[in-house]
Amino acid sequence: MINEIYFAGGCFWGVEHFFKGVQGVTSVRCGYANGSLDNPSYEQVYTDKTGHAETVRVLYDSERINLQELTRLFFATIDPSLLNRQGHDVGTRYRTGVFYTTEEDRQVLEQEFSRQRELLAQDAPEAVFRTELLPLDKFFPAEEYHHDYLDKNPGGYCHLDFKVFVYLKLYQDLKALVEGESDQIARMAECAALITERMKFFWTGFYRVIDGELVLGPFQGPSACLRIGFGKGVCGTSWKQKKTIVVPDVEDFPGHIACSSLSRSEIVVPVFGADGSVCSAVLDIDSTEIGTFDRTDATFLRLIADLI
Ligand code: SME
Repeated sequence: MINEIYFAGGCFWGVEHFFKGVQGVTSVRCGYANGSLDNPSYEQVYTDKTGHAETVRVLYDSERINLQELTRLFFATIDPSLLNRQGHDVGTRYRTGVFYTTEEDRQVLEQEFSRQRELLAQDAPEAVFRTELLPLDKFFPAEEYHHDYLDKNPGGYCHLDFKVFVYLKLYQDLKALVEGESDQIARMAECAALITERMKFFWTGFYRVIDGELVLGPFQGPSACLRIGFGKGVCGTSWKQKKTIVVPDVEDFPGHIACSSLSRSEIVVPVFGADGSVCSAVLDIDSTEIGTFDRTDATFLRLIADLI
């Protein structure tokens, strides 16, 4: 069945381009939503007085992708803590929101929004969650030149970090590769190899929770320490706190375990079991540069960890 959902995620050129690459999406359309004027022009919306948000209508085949997964992908492309801006773009038309058309979708979205609020509170305790969850008021397709803008203008303005497109492909390729594979070690091995191939990080691998300790699992990169205790290092802290930890500079993380002196920044993402509460492993990635990892890495790597 074909369903519809509306995503406001900043400049619609980039958002449209992103969703075009999502498997299961059958059509995307740039437009203006939830404003006060019918059939507004870009110039009218640009004044920021009509109340519209630049929005992308996404039609999708619900047998191939569900609303929860689409919404998780959407959140990987935005910063929900920003008020009326995304990337370099500022104005109420660039506010973020998800606009639904059915009661059933509202319920799915309410649930996903509470999860996203929790994740933001973990990642950035000071941040305020700003993304709107509202019924669609009215959607008007934008002028023709806005449609397929980044296909018509390769290299044109896109507020999204190029990394989101690389991660989207990586996520979808990994999903296709591990789908139906019941052995977790095999899924981990495939995951570490694919992340290394696409992202070229210095060290990517898993530590599994075994008998109250983290034990080295499948990885790519130089040799690493075999076991890490509960609450020790970045990995043991991520396991203990059940949350993603981004370390911009390993020297600033008390208790960081240096498996290699070349590692300068790190991200660790917990892997949860089927019920979502027990942490069964962590995904650990190291970079030789300072400040490699940000919200984009954290949100996509959480999606990737869910495949494990
Ligand atoms: N630095 C990690 C240890 C694992 S290595 O990075 C591969 C930590 O502090 O937990």
